[in-house]
Amino acid sequence: MLFQNALIENSATPTAFRVENGKFAAIGPDLTPNPGEEVVDLQGKLVLPPFIESHVHLDTCLTAGDPVWNMSGTLFEGIECWSKRKEKLSKDDIKERVNRAVRLYAAHGIQHIRTHVDVTDPSLVAMETMVELREELRDLVDIQIVAFPQEGILSYPNGKQLMLDAVKLGADAVGAIPHFEFTREYSVESLNFALELAAKENKLVDVHCDEIDDEASRGLETVAARALELELFDKVTASHTTAMHSYNNAYVVRLMRLLKMSRINFVSNPLVNTHLQGRMDTYPKRRGVTRVKELTAEGINVSFGHDDIFDPWYPMGTGSMRDVVFMGLHVCQMMGYEEIMDSYKFISTNAAKTLHLGEEYGIKTGRPASFIVLDADNWYNALNRNAAVLRSYKKGKLVAQSTPGQSEVLL
Ligand code: FE2
Repeated sequence: MLFQNALIENSATPTAFRVENGKFAAIGPDLTPNPGEEVVDLQGKLVLPPFIESHVHLDTCLTAGDPVWNMSGTLFEGIECWSKRKEKLSKDDIKERVNRAVRLYAAHGIQHIRTHVDVTDPSLVAMETMVELREELRDLVDIQIVAFPQEGILSYPNGKQLMLDAVKLGADAVGAIPHFEFTREYSVESLNFALELAAKENKLVDVHCDEIDDEASRGLETVAARALELELFDKVTASHTTAMHSYNNAYVVRLMRLLKMSRINFVSNPLVNTHLQGRMDTYPKRRGVTRVKELTAEGINVSFGHDDIFDPWYPMGTGSMRDVVFMGLHVCQMMGYEEIMDSYKFISTNAAKTLHLGEEYGIKTGRPASFIVLDADNWYNALNRNAAVLRSYKKGKLVAQSTPGQSEVLL
């Protein structure tokens, strides 16, 4: 099949590409149809590699208001609401909600999702269910599962064993939550445990790291040091790192050297952390989003995640990663022309590095023909006008399409 008149990744000139056996067989402006070949005219629309959700909690999604709404909007009331909802948690409940959430994502051009799954639960029901869903949904999205100890590894009964069991059940990545552990010593020990487990079992790492406004929360330096020493490097991701927003600059300058040496990835969640952080502040109130602009300027890989979709911690979300980028650029003050044009990378190329997708991802000859077509000519306009994802192809197969709504001004 030959696709013509595509503007690939903000290119100013249209090009064509051929898809054969689910792969990009050729890309170039001079391609012409073979006899009898099907031709699709993309009419000068923007073509991007598929969007990627690099940080979400699918096991809690689509539960806002069930059974009670979070009236204050705080993290702590969110935990109270969730503990009431958790009583109803079952395999069928998780499957029904994850199926709906994944379809919301798919309609917005997302083809890869990294989900954190709470394993501080002796039954490990969410973990077991997500492993099944990873298989059941693989034609629509590729799901990566992080064993996420919501209530701590050292601070939760049998926490270490639950992590080992979750890895045995089929987790792709090992998580941790150092800022939630009872003590600083537990925090360091939990990180040593998580990264050594990942090294031993050849897993990725994604730590909920310093998601707090406390500038003394410094799990990040341990994550980076261990990533370097264990030679895990870019297999390791630090998510959230909101305390970094509050670190003093003298410390950040020193820390930046280690971060670069460690080659770890960062995931920022601008929607949720703008909503949840700074809640103990009077005025001025901190934004509580990590230093995306500075990390990016240092050449460190940063991607963006939605984190929560319509659940007790975040009462909004339709599965559109465009909203995440839109908020991220505002709160990180990254609204220069090139910053806006490049910002799709936070939910595509950069996120692919975070997920370690390697040669499986990207619009290049020989790679899987996975791509999306947006109703715009470049990413600036797509972002600004909230353009629809018209079509989403996964390995050469059309998996989602949409028709943009139309409005008319009558006077
Ligand atoms: Fe999270």
